[in-house]
Amino acid sequence: MSSSYMTELSAPQKVLLGPGPSTVHPRVLAAMASPVMGHLDPAFFQVMDDVCEMLRMVFHTENKMTVPISSTGTGAMETACANVIEPGDEVLIARNGYFGVRLGDIAGRCGATVHLLDTPWGKSVDPQMLRDELKKHPGLKAVGVVHAETSTGVLSEVKELVDVIHEAGALAIVDAVTSLGGHDMRMDEWGIDVCYSATQKCLGAPPGLAPISLSQSAMDVVSKRSTKVQSFYFNLQDLEAYWNQTRRAYHHTSPINMTYALRESLRMMMEEGLDNRIHRHARVAAGLRAGAEALGLSLLAEEGHRLNPLTTVSIPEGIEDGKVRASLLNDYDIEIGGGLGEFAGKAWRIGLMGESARERNVFAVLSALETILSKEGYEVAFGASLSAAQRAIATYNE
Ligand SMILES: Cc1ncc(COP(=O)(O)O)c(C=O)c1O
Repeated sequence: MSSSYMTELSAPQKVLLGPGPSTVHPRVLAAMASPVMGHLDPAFFQVMDDVCEMLRMVFHTENKMTVPISSTGTGAMETACANVIEPGDEVLIARNGYFGVRLGDIAGRCGATVHLLDTPWGKSVDPQMLRDELKKHPGLKAVGVVHAETSTGVLSEVKELVDVIHEAGALAIVDAVTSLGGHDMRMDEWGIDVCYSATQKCLGAPPGLAPISLSQSAMDVVSKRSTKVQSFYFNLQDLEAYWNQTRRAYHHTSPINMTYALRESLRMMMEEGLDNRIHRHARVAAGLRAGAEALGLSLLAEEGHRLNPLTTVSIPEGIEDGKVRASLLNDYDIEIGGGLGEFAGKAWRIGLMGESARERNVFAVLSALETILSKEGYEVAFGASLSAAQRAIATYNE
């Protein structure tokens, strides 16, 4: 293979309808191309303050400790666990998919004894089952749940789950990587102690930052630790000293241009209005679900708990997963996701997140799927999925 590194990079323009990253608006890309400033330049401090202020609005929180971590979502999972958990602590993770499994893994690596509540893939975590399970484990330090399980397309009722977690006297850690900016998230009203997300999904920026917010009571737990946080990079007390407006103490070199990107994508969210944005995600998802069902693809997430930013559909019998996704990518420039874990080879994950959550993308992916599937011998009534999607979108009632 001849090397191509002397050729100028020309990244192809793809329609990103997978589980993330999602499409990034040109305004956000333009902001990223702004001149690099020093991470201790007062002009950059203003950018940091703007980002924190808007993140608080998106999380619906007054929490002082609301910052973007320099990492993707997994780094925020590590941050949440590494700071809250001390070796020997007991925690419980409610798992209903791949990312719950990851959260349990990370909690264990932080030295916790991890209890697990497993819910079948495709179902939401049941508050009563959680209550019953928590009774078996008195003295838990924290309970972790995934708001929007990206591997299955399921939304769990975080507000109810947090109430149950607090009845048991534990801290609630909530993964909002796929929900923040695409579903309602009311951190203070719902009483969430630790909540984190990532920029590349419904927040509309490229991958590279992971917003996190901790309540004062969670920060008190962090400051009263008897052991040092094992991670230097994700140690929130040191990070706080950099993000705090009066201290601005160097911790690590901030990813300046990613911070510009997040600032611009958050500004776009404010211009649109958070509620309008959440309604947009709901409306296009209703169209996609109706279209997919009209195409004969069954939805894998339990009804009433289906995510808007991500829809999981079953791959029809006899259809080759990789071939269809390759055709979407190569012939139509559309990326969708394959199944993860238990759903590998059985599901497609179609994301409509952030800037990708547009009506035109619903019609594009459905018509491409109709064409590709029919060529593969699957019986298709041409146009049926598009008209079902049109009807669902036109009659969608906000
Ligand atoms: C629910 C959830 N949690 C955590 C992650 C991990 O985030 P990242 O891949 O940005 O590290 C993802 C990624 O898809 C996710 O969907």
